[in-house]
Parts: sequence; C-alpha cells; structure tokens
Amino acid sequence: MKNIIVLNGSPHKNGNTSALLKAFLSGLKKGKKLTVTQFDAYALRVAPILASDFSGKKEKKDDMQSVLPKILAADLIVLATPLYYWGMSAQLKLVWERLFGTDYKLFKGKRLAILATGGGEDKKDSGADLIEAQYKNICAFMGMRFVGLCFASSEKQPVSKNKKALATAQALGKKAGKW
Ligand SMILES: Cc1cc2nc3c(=O)[nH]c(=O)nc-3n(C[C@H](O)[C@H](O)[C@H](O)COP(=O)(O)O)c2cc1C
Repeated sequence: MKNIIVLNGSPHKNGNTSALLKAFLSGLKKGKKLTVTQFDAYALRVAPILASDFSGKKEKKDDMQSVLPKILAADLIVLATPLYYWGMSAQLKLVWERLFGTDYKLFKGKRLAILATGGGEDKKDSGADLIEAQYKNICAFMGMRFVGLCFASSEKQPVSKNKKALATAQALGKKAGKW
C-alpha cells in the first residue's frame, strides 16, 4: 500500500486550492488502495528554523513532530498552495523549511506533485512557473522525482467551476499514482 502525504497551504477549507486538490486526489485514488494523510499548514503550530537549529542540539516541540514521520513514510508528497506573491504560502514554506537537518537520503525515490491556484491567468503570470522551477531543483537535489505542477487560475471563475482545470488536475493525479 502506497502512502501519500498532502501538505495544504491554503487557509480556505473549500476554496480554489482545495477544489484542485480534490480533483487530483480523485484521479490518484481511482481503482487503488492508498493511505492519504493530509495536513493543513494553517492549522499547524510549526516554528521557523532558528539559529540554534544549526547546532543540531535543540529539538523543537511543535506539530512538526507528527508531520515529519508522515513525510518520511510517504511515497508521494503533494503540495497544494495558493500563489502568494509569486510563491507558495508562507505557512506551507515554513513546513518545508523544517526538513532542514533531516537525512536527505531518506527522500530518495519519493515522488512530488504540486497543485497551485492564483489570480494570474497562467503559470507565468501567476508565478506558478517559479514554484515549478524551484521544486524541480529541490527534487533533483534530494533525489526525488518531480511528477508535475498543475496550475489553475481563479481569476475569472472559482476553480471548482473550471472543468478543464479539474480534468488536468485529475490527470496529474492519475499520472502520480502509476507505480
Ligand atoms: C497575499 C496574497 C498574495 C497573492 N499573490 C498572488 C500571486 O503572486 N499570483 C497569483 O496568481 N495570485 C496571487 N494571489 C491570489 C490567490 O493566489 C488566489 O486567489 C488563489 O486562488 C486563492 O486560493 P484559495 O481559494 O485556496 O485561498 C494572492 C492572494 C493573496 C491573498
């Protein structure tokens, strides 16, 4: 059984990012038994990296203690985020930065997929292409396989009404689940 971890960086429970994520998960789960664990970054208490982390001595006692084991156990990591100033939301980035100090060999072979929504009209206009380039590099660095990024614009209509975007997210989910 494959383990999936979803890290959701949107503050809206039923917003645009959530709609795109739902479509992705429906494509991913089709005909498969998977364990999917979702963490909503806005509901977590996760401290930023501090100078003391560089000494490797002080272990922070916050929600990362329950999130990190799930990330390490995952075969597929799914990041879902609204675009905030040409990047992912700060809460989600906070979670990702806390991977600092972990043994990157433990990430080798994991897959990573990204769902992103924004008011911009396309990947370039919204800044989603920057996240894509960033995580392609991160995946190469950590030995992970970048499955893809699906962007949907929320400018003209809510993503939940954008059939084309939902179908694209579903197709990416299907691709991500082909082991
Ligand atoms: C602080 C802030 C910054 C934003 N920056 C961008 C941006 O750089 N690019 C973009 O396309 N949309 C940007 N937006 C729009 C949101 O990404 C967009 O409305 C998104 O679909 C919201 O998703 P949600 O419904 O899951 O919250 C920004 C919105 C906020 C609140």
